Amino acid sequence: METFECIGARRSVRSYEDREVEEEKLGQVLEAGRLAPSANNRQGWKFVVVRDAELRQRLARAAHGQSFVGQAPVVIAACATETGRVMSCGHPAHLVDTSIAIDHMTLAAREQGLGTCWIGAFEQEEVKRILGVPASATVVGLLPVGYPTSWPSASSRKPLGEVVCYERWQ
Ligand SMILES: Cc1cc2nc3c(=O)[nH]c(=O)nc-3n(C[C@H](O)[C@H](O)[C@H](O)COP(=O)(O)O)c2cc1C
Repeated sequence: METFECIGARRSVRSYEDREVEEEKLGQVLEAGRLAPSANNRQGWKFVVVRDAELRQRLARAAHGQSFVGQAPVVIAACATETGRVMSCGHPAHLVDTSIAIDHMTLAAREQGLGTCWIGAFEQEEVKRILGVPASATVVGLLPVGYPTSWPSASSRKPLGEVVCYERWQ
């Protein structure tokens, strides 16, 4: 799949087949996260791969009962390990860096025919407890990964003219 085709074909998938994800395909997804850029190339992230069914169910409950989180055969908890770094622009580097890694993984998954859905609605402390994430780290996002029962149609986007301006803010 060409890069742009992949970007255009990615969807948030909220229904998964009862079918395992091959190690090789999952490896490609994780590799895309590993290759993501980061501020000062710090790579301050850790991807916790969860296949265990009971843990996935617990994660689903911690994600406000979003049951598809437990239905997906794999959930990746993308964690930031260096939570104190603030860039000179004022933004926390760990959130930006780990978010880029998550997005890389969503696209690599799509390229492999796999669906994902970025989960930001979850109880931080509960997910940390379930997965044994240390206090020094933070869970940036949960990413269920699996074969979609069907690919959802594209959700709408603002037109380019509404989100782009040239030379000066307009
Ligand atoms: C930071 C972030 C957090 C999100 N959290 C959730 C979530 O908790 N549950 C959910 O079903 N979708 C979640 N989404 C998915 C968005 O709803 C989805 O990306 C958006 O509606 C556009 O649809 P699309 O991804 O299919 O293009 C999240 C997406 C992002 C980027």
